[in-house]
Amino acid sequence: IDIKTLRTATGGVTTIDPGFKNTGSCESAITFLNGEEGILRYRGYSIEELAEKADFLEVAFLLIFGELPTKEELDKFHADIKEQSVVDDDIKKILDAFPKTAHPMGVLSSLTSALTAFNPSSVNVDSEEDMYKSVVKILGKFPVLVAWTMRKKQGLPLDYGDNSLGYVENILKMMFKKPNEEYNQSSILVNALDKLLILHADHEQNCSTSTVRIVGSAHTGLFASISSGISALWGPLHGGANQAVLEMLSGIEADGGDTKKYMAKAKDKSDPFRLMGFGHRVYKNFDPRAKIIKVAADEVLGDLGVEDPILDIAKGLEKEALEDQYFVDRKLYPNVDFYSGIIYRAMGIPTDMFTVMFALGRLPGWIAQWREMRLRKEPIGRPRQVYTGENSRAFKDIENR
Ligand code: ACO
Repeated sequence: IDIKTLRTATGGVTTIDPGFKNTGSCESAITFLNGEEGILRYRGYSIEELAEKADFLEVAFLLIFGELPTKEELDKFHADIKEQSVVDDDIKKILDAFPKTAHPMGVLSSLTSALTAFNPSSVNVDSEEDMYKSVVKILGKFPVLVAWTMRKKQGLPLDYGDNSLGYVENILKMMFKKPNEEYNQSSILVNALDKLLILHADHEQNCSTSTVRIVGSAHTGLFASISSGISALWGPLHGGANQAVLEMLSGIEADGGDTKKYMAKAKDKSDPFRLMGFGHRVYKNFDPRAKIIKVAADEVLGDLGVEDPILDIAKGLEKEALEDQYFVDRKLYPNVDFYSGIIYRAMGIPTDMFTVMFALGRLPGWIAQWREMRLRKEPIGRPRQVYTGENSRAFKDIENR
């Protein structure tokens, strides 16, 4: 049991709950998650239905403002976002300063934070109107930063997209358009990315979202709060798992495809290796997002005519894990990250950009949670601790230490 209730020296009561396994940090009306039954709903709508019927921008509107938009509301929202899709040219100089080897998540986090410097008024969010301005700004500029981060690494010019396109179509074009080449939009890629982004759009108080809320609770601006969320997402135990999964699957393939060997490694407590893409803090039956993504992976690879041996390795690992007592006892199932990388790879997205794609999807969730936190006037986040260090000590001069 992680919770110990301890009486502190001040006479107050402090609950110790490492990893906040049993501690709620807020009330929220955005996302409902039932880990035992594998239910995920955004504002009351099931993830299955949204992934099938909605597009990403509609879902973003739903998460942020609480209702599905009418056609007029969606058009206005999109127009306002498009109006904000220009990024200050000096941001390119910051991008230039990064080494080619820099991880895209580090670059993205820095550029997102830098947006505050170029848009200082975005920090003032005294009214809903002010908030709206910051919201459409980040939704407009973030895809540009994502595309530039990838293009810079690939030595491609840093262009803008085409605002006559849909939000997701434009993201793909910004990422993939090659100079002096005709760009043909693929509806397979647009639909696949739309679905992936929707599935990643919010997940209540996960590590990066809690980070955004707690940073924002100090009345730090939206862009800096999101930048801190990107840093949290980067870690391999969180969003970074999608990159780690693909590296793991590629490693297993290069090693001859012996999945049993890696199952054994994952169960060996003296070996730090974990089966990346397995396990979840809340889902203890199945991750509904993983179910949808597994089907999508089959469809997208089929539609694109891609045969990827890594998909077979992934399916083999899942099958073995579902029958293995270690995984069954600990309720370890594939999570959202297990199959998503296989789709991203088939789409031509480099492995180290996978977590960036996750950030792109999670952006509306971070915004919605930050906005809710500010509208509810939540107090500054400030956990307590139980001190376990030295008691009072007399200072020693340096010669006497
Ligand atoms: N492979 C092997 N064993 C595992 C795995 C795994 N992927 N995940 C958990 N376990 C084992 C642990 O060793 C532990 O075993 P024990 O009880 O014998 O000590 C038990 O299962 C419970 O694991 P915890 O780490 O205590 O569970 P927690 O809820 O803290 O962690 C987490 C959840 C971080 C997702 C974990 O399952 C993990 O590291 N998974 C791999 C990384 C991953 O896929 N992360 C993405 C999560 S989804 C997301 O953030 C978008």
